[in-house]
Amino acid sequence: MVPSHPGRRSRGVASRASRPSRRTPAAGPRAAESEADPTRLEPVLTSEGRALLDELGDVSGQDPLAVSTRLRALGHSADVVAAVLTQAGLRARARAKLGEDAAGLLLTRDGLEQATRPVVARVHAQRLREAGARRVADLGCGLGLDSLAFARAGLEVTAVEKDPTVAAAAAANLAAHAGAHVETGDAVAWAGEHLAEPAPGEAVWLDPARRRIGGGGTARVFDPEAFSPPLSFVEALAARGCTVGVKLGPGIPHEALSPEAEAQWVSVDGDVTEAVLWFGAARRPGVRRAALALDTRGGQVCSAELVSAEPPGGSPAVSAVGEEGMAGLVGHLLLEPDGAVIRAGLVTDLAVGLGPEVRLLDEHLAYLTAPEVPAHPLARRYRVLAVQDLNLKALKRWAAETGVGRLDVKKRGVALAPEQVRARVLGSGRSRGGRHATLVLARVGEGRYALEVEPLDDGGAR
Ligand SMILES: C[S@@+](CC[C@H](N)C(=O)[O-])C[C@H]1O[C@@H](n2cnc3c(N)ncnc32)[C@H](O)[C@@H]1O
Repeated sequence: MVPSHPGRRSRGVASRASRPSRRTPAAGPRAAESEADPTRLEPVLTSEGRALLDELGDVSGQDPLAVSTRLRALGHSADVVAAVLTQAGLRARARAKLGEDAAGLLLTRDGLEQATRPVVARVHAQRLREAGARRVADLGCGLGLDSLAFARAGLEVTAVEKDPTVAAAAAANLAAHAGAHVETGDAVAWAGEHLAEPAPGEAVWLDPARRRIGGGGTARVFDPEAFSPPLSFVEALAARGCTVGVKLGPGIPHEALSPEAEAQWVSVDGDVTEAVLWFGAARRPGVRRAALALDTRGGQVCSAELVSAEPPGGSPAVSAVGEEGMAGLVGHLLLEPDGAVIRAGLVTDLAVGLGPEVRLLDEHLAYLTAPEVPAHPLARRYRVLAVQDLNLKALKRWAAETGVGRLDVKKRGVALAPEQVRARVLGSGRSRGGRHATLVLARVGEGRYALEVEPLDDGGAR
C-alpha cells in the first residue's frame, strides 16, 4: 500500500503533494475534458485523487467517456478525473515493461519510456550490494524505478530529481520505503555538496537523461556530453574514488567508454535495453566488457553472462566461412548471438566458448555457424535447410513451389526491408495460408545470399 501523503520526507515534494486539488464546478465530461489538462500529475498526488486512482483499477477495456461521466457524477472535479484516467491509461501501458509494479506507481509518459525495467534494476541493486554499498545516491532518479529496486534490496536511498513533478511522482513511488527519500534539485549541485569525499558503504547511481525536449517533442541525444548529467561528470565522480554505476543507451560508441570502467550490456528476452558502466568497487576485477542476458519468458528470470578482460577490439580472431563455404552450410547450424553479445563486441568470444568448429559466416557479420552445438542461452540456433543467391524473383518462385504462406525475414548487411521482401516474395500468396518459413538474408563477401532456416530454440535466445 502506498500512503496517501507521498513525499513527506522531501520538503519540496511534500508541499506539492499536500496541495488541495483544484475543484471546478460540476460540468459534463465534454466540458471537463476541455478544461482539464490530463498530463497534470498534481490531482493524483492529493489523497482524493490517489484513492480514486487506486480504487479505479484497470479501465482499459471501458469507454473513457463513460468512465469520466461516472466519476464526474460522483462529484470528482474535472482535473482529478482527467488526471486519474491518464494515470490509469499509463499504468495499463506500463504493465508490459514494469510488470506488477505498474499497478501501484505514479507515472508520466516520458518517465515511463525512460524507466529501468524492474528485472534489470534488481540485478543492478544486487551488484551494488555485493560491492559493499549500504547507501545509494540515485542522481536523476526520474520516476524512481532504480531507487525502488535499491530500497527493496535493503539499501538506503537518496533520490535526486530536478523536475519537481517527476520528483513528486518518485516520492509517491518510494513512499512505502522508510529508507528512501527524494530531493528535488540538481544532481550536480547535490554531488558537489555531498560527494566531495567518497564515504565507505556509499555508492552513486546515474541514469542520465538522453533526450532533449523542444520543438513540441523529445529527441534522443547520442553525444555523451549532451546527456544530463554528462558522462564526464560521472567519470569525475569515479575519479574521486566513488563506487559508481551509470546506465547508458546500448548504442554507446566503444570509443566513449572509459578504460577505468567495466561496460556491461544487458538484454531482456532478447532485446538489448542498456549498457551500464561500473566504476570503483562496483567494477569486477579483470572484467572490461560483459554481456548479460536476462530471460523472463519461462515465468522466472534466467540469466547468462559472457565476460572479457579485453578492451573493445581485443576479442579473439575466428575464421569465416566466406562465399566459398556457403553451399556447404546446408544441414549445419546458423547461430544468432544475443544482442547484448553483439553490442559488447563479444561475438568471437562467444564463438570460441561454443567450440573449435564454430566460425563466423562473414568477418563483418554477427552470425556464427557450426556443424552442431548444444543449445546456449546467448545464441539462438537455426538449422540451415537451403542456401541460394538472394534474388527476389527466384525467392518468389521458391515460395510458390514449396507452399510458403507465412514468412519471417531476418537480415544482416543487406539493404532490404524485411517487410518489403515478405511482400515481394509472398505476393498474393500471403492470404492463402501454407507453411511457415524463415529466411536469413546476408551479405557474405561480395555475394548476397538467402538461407532458408528452421529455428531450433523457441522464444528468443533460448
Ligand atoms: C532517464 S531518467 C531516470 C529514470 C530512472 N532511472 C527510472 O528508472 O525511473 C533521467 C532523469 O534525470 C533527470 N535529470 C536530468 N538532469 C538532471 C540533473 N542535472 N539533476 C537532477 N535530475 C536530472 C531528468 O529530469 C529525468 O527524470
